Amino acid sequence: MTDRSPESHAPEIDAHSGIETTGHEWDGIKELNNPLPRWWRFIFWASVVVAIVYWILMPAWPALPGMQGNTTGVLRQSDRSEVAADITAMKAERSALSAKLASVDAASILKDQGLSQLALSLGESAFGDNCAACHGAGGRGARGYPTLADDVWLWGGSLDDVERTLRYGIRSSHPETHTSEMPAFGRDQFLTRSQVGDLVEYVVALSRREADAAAVARAASLFEQNCASCHGATGLGDRTKGAPNLTDADWLYGGDRAAIQRTIHGPRNGVMPAWGDRFDPATIRALAIYVHSLGGGE
Ligand code: HEC
Ligand code: HEC
Repeated sequence: MTDRSPESHAPEIDAHSGIETTGHEWDGIKELNNPLPRWWRFIFWASVVVAIVYWILMPAWPALPGMQGNTTGVLRQSDRSEVAADITAMKAERSALSAKLASVDAASILKDQGLSQLALSLGESAFGDNCAACHGAGGRGARGYPTLADDVWLWGGSLDDVERTLRYGIRSSHPETHTSEMPAFGRDQFLTRSQVGDLVEYVVALSRREADAAAVARAASLFEQNCASCHGATGLGDRTKGAPNLTDADWLYGGDRAAIQRTIHGPRNGVMPAWGDRFDPATIRALAIYVHSLGGGE
């Protein structure tokens, strides 16, 4: 400072506030040279100290060339090893519970709060990954893929029924699968076109809708001979054959005349894969419990 001429560089004191200015001036407004507040400087230096202590204790700096990873810090703390330890502990706990899940019978799982919670969460995620593609999110169903969240069941809605369906599938390649197929009455020429037409009216009448009375009368004996063995004499269906109830408003393939006609002409006989070989018993259990919980469990 000594070599500067006093006229231009002596610190100027602002007349109004009595504070030194920086010498910068814009349109007559001068910048005051306030010192930084004491609290600000304290926090600044405290942060510096904390940072240095942190570098020493904790993993912090990228490694020098030739070293791996980063400086490990005096405490040798590592998130990765902590997470690994947590996961191992969780897995141990889970596998104990899953072993129980598979060994206890389904009904007693429902009575055990911890087990049923685990079953529901395992079941929900397995369902999302494996079943929702066909049955829809939350089991809401789609044409040809039954709704699992209602109380209409093709093959039975008790926990044991659902578990059996899951394990072996429906018309799957598993030897113990549910079988029974509705014949293709039209396509395979068991019935004529007009007989199929009459039966369509008969099915419409069964589900308590207005139908052509003459056709219904003509179809009564056809139904008895061709359909009653699976769908029942009154059309209520048969779970041992996966034959749907034809008297309700719930349709797997649609309840309008065209859809019914298509089914009688040549049914699709939907296939559901067997899951018993893909999942461990605990997951099958969990899925059955989840499906059962969706709202329609019996
Ligand atoms: C490839 C498609 C597909 C996938 C994937 C699938 N399902 Fe199915 N599922 C079906 C079809 C089709 C039916 C109906 C078969 C029939 O017509 O009887 C069915 C029927 C069922 C039934 C019997 C419903 C009843 O009314 O009796 C249950 C329970 C079921 N599925 C559960 C599951 C679960 C749980 C999963 C996942 C592990 C799953 N499904 C995955 C196609 C599928
Ligand atoms: C061997 C047993 C069997 C016989 C016989 C049979 N059905 Fe079926 N029917 C089924 C099965 C099983 C299904 C479900 C097919 C599926 O899941 O893909 C079905 C489905 C249907 C459906 C579709 C229901 C829906 O919810 O969409 C209609 C309609 C129907 N049958 C009418 C008939 C009529 C009419 C006859 C007589 C001409 C008949 N069935 C004979 C087993 C049978």
